Amino acid sequence: MSFSLRMIVLIFVAALLFMLFTSMSRSSRSTGLAPSLDPVEEQSFVGTATCIRCHEEIGETHAASGHANTFHSTADFVPAKALHGKVFEDALRSNRIRYHWDSEGLSSSIPGRFDDAEFPLMYALGSGTHGVSFLTILPHSDGSDVGLEHRMTLFGAEHSPGITPGHEYLDAPTEDAEHFGRVLDPEKLRRCVECHTTGGRIEHGEVLAASLHVGCESCHGPGSSHVAAMDRGLPADTYFKAIKWPKAIDEIRTCGSCHRLPETVKPSEISTTSPVLPRFQPVGMMQSPCFVKSSGQMRCTTCHDPHEKTSSASTDYHRICLSCHETYSVPDCTVAADRCVECHMPAVPIAGAAFHDHWIRVRNTDEAVTGNQKISPDH
Ligand code: HEC
Ligand code: HEC
Ligand code: HEC
Ligand code: HEC
Ligand code: HEC
Ligand code: HEC
Ligand code: HEC
Repeated sequence: MSFSLRMIVLIFVAALLFMLFTSMSRSSRSTGLAPSLDPVEEQSFVGTATCIRCHEEIGETHAASGHANTFHSTADFVPAKALHGKVFEDALRSNRIRYHWDSEGLSSSIPGRFDDAEFPLMYALGSGTHGVSFLTILPHSDGSDVGLEHRMTLFGAEHSPGITPGHEYLDAPTEDAEHFGRVLDPEKLRRCVECHTTGGRIEHGEVLAASLHVGCESCHGPGSSHVAAMDRGLPADTYFKAIKWPKAIDEIRTCGSCHRLPETVKPSEISTTSPVLPRFQPVGMMQSPCFVKSSGQMRCTTCHDPHEKTSSASTDYHRICLSCHETYSVPDCTVAADRCVECHMPAVPIAGAAFHDHWIRVRNTDEAVTGNQKISPDH
């Protein structure tokens, strides 16, 4: 992608405008931007807050899961405060990126290269289970919106700073903005927002969403007519695009719309030697004999409560494995009678995080569980 120098100037002007705008509209930003929805145009999404008026218990478990923390405005993202005054060394590009936090959010500068120009980090993506990356929306001179994925990512619960996965392999910057991070074309930016918010879209350089984060309607679909029916005390309707997904494949497709499906990864990545496949759980699961030889009866909710964090309790999984194997008369393991996940779904390190390989299988003894750190920037 090529950006003219004029664009860079524009970007910095835009950055200043954002800051001005941010300070003018702080109160609406800190409520999660929800009020900006156009009630006519987008009437079908109502937002998570409306759903949990009636589904209080599910609301509580969902709120404690990673899905409820996928997209924050940096002004509302508590760990951003701790970055105030910190410097991130990007040795590859000889840059020292300095952070500044105030009530309007987080911004960065590269003193020495760009004087005092401040560049905002508008949004923080990810709960931090694996990492938190920062995103800024920039108006392009052709009228579209492009994104900037910032150079530094905070890894793990301790929010340890490190380079954003994939950025170590980018070409040397040819444009000023590329000193701060990776420029995303409008399509990549749109998809980034769609997977991390509920019905989110970009307008005038900002994200407008029914709810930030992955909310109820990210999986259940827009719910306005259900809410209208329930409010009038009518019987539970059949409005939802799928209630409880009677067919396993429809549920897998719902989860896979974000967690990936076989058709949304490169064919070369679907192999036991792929260094990235464990990251795409639905794709891996669909290759497993457990899925194939049960005629596709294995689905995500066989093992996961969709409203909760993963349990991390190996005995829960063990029980699920054995009960299904009994149904299908699968022979017992000759090696062990417990800790199934450890050997058949091991955690594979990928780009600073670990993912459990959902391609459940008998693994060759020489199969290394090491993954490969070199991944393309598009996760
Ligand atoms: C005014 C109250 C109310 C609101 C608001 C509401 N629901 Fe419901 N919902 C109900 C009731 C009542 C039922 C039927 C009984 C039950 O399963 O609890 C139901 C059922 C459901 C079901 C299961 C249907 C089934 O057959 O098992 C789902 C899924 C659901 N709601 C999701 C949502 C989502 C998503 C939202 C927000 C878009 C939402 N609800 C908002 C009251 C409400
Ligand atoms: C709209 C996109 C989207 C959809 C649809 C979606 N997910 Fe996710 N999921 C995410 C994102 C983003 C994360 C990362 C959350 C974070 O930042 O920790 C995630 C995380 C998870 C995790 C780890 C969460 C934790 O807290 O331990 C599980 C398990 C999971 N998803 C399962 C599912 C299942 C099962 C479905 C389908 C029923 C599903 N997801 C549908 C986007 C989605
Ligand atoms: C196709 C949907 C999709 C797109 C597009 C997408 N993500 Fe994600 N993202 C996910 C899912 C699913 C997860 C959880 C599993 C994982 O970590 O791969 C996730 C996880 C993350 C995490 C780690 C969260 C945690 O702590 O577990 C970060 C950070 C992140 N995404 C940032 C981004 C950024 C920045 C973009 C845009 C450049 C983006 N994502 C684009 C679906 C998507
Ligand atoms: C990650 C996807 C996902 C998200 C997010 C999600 N759900 Fe669900 N929900 C499901 C799936 C899948 C089922 C079917 C579960 C099953 O059959 O075991 C379900 C079932 C339900 C049911 C009926 C069964 C039950 O457990 O009582 C209700 C009601 C419901 N969801 C409401 C909500 C509400 C309210 C929210 C937001 C707070 C929400 N869901 C968020 C995927 C999701
Ligand atoms: C939906 C039911 C179901 C569930 C749940 C299930 N399996 Fe399976 N599993 C099967 C079937 C069916 C086969 C194929 C048996 C055959 O070859 O005829 C199988 C085969 C296997 C095999 C042999 C695969 C190979 O490479 O030949 C292993 C190992 C295995 N399962 C482990 C597990 C573990 C570990 C779990 C739990 C984490 C689990 N399974 C959960 C149905 C299931
Ligand atoms: C046979 C059981 C089983 C099935 C089926 C299953 N998972 Fe998992 N999943 C696990 C286990 C085990 C873990 C790791 C342990 C934990 O974190 O609790 C895990 C972890 C995850 C995570 C956290 C990141 C990671 O990879 O460690 C995500 C996201 C996830 N699963 C998504 C899915 C999706 C989406 C589906 C459906 C396509 C699915 N899972 C089906 C057992 C299962
Ligand atoms: C210490 C590692 C380890 C653990 C723990 C383990 N397995 Fe295995 N499993 C193996 C190995 C290795 C094989 C291949 C053995 C062989 O080829 O003789 C195997 C084979 C299998 C098979 C194929 C059996 C056949 O004859 O076709 C199944 C099914 C299976 N395991 C299921 C499970 C389940 C379910 C659990 C948990 C209750 C489990 N395993 C725990 C390592 C393990």
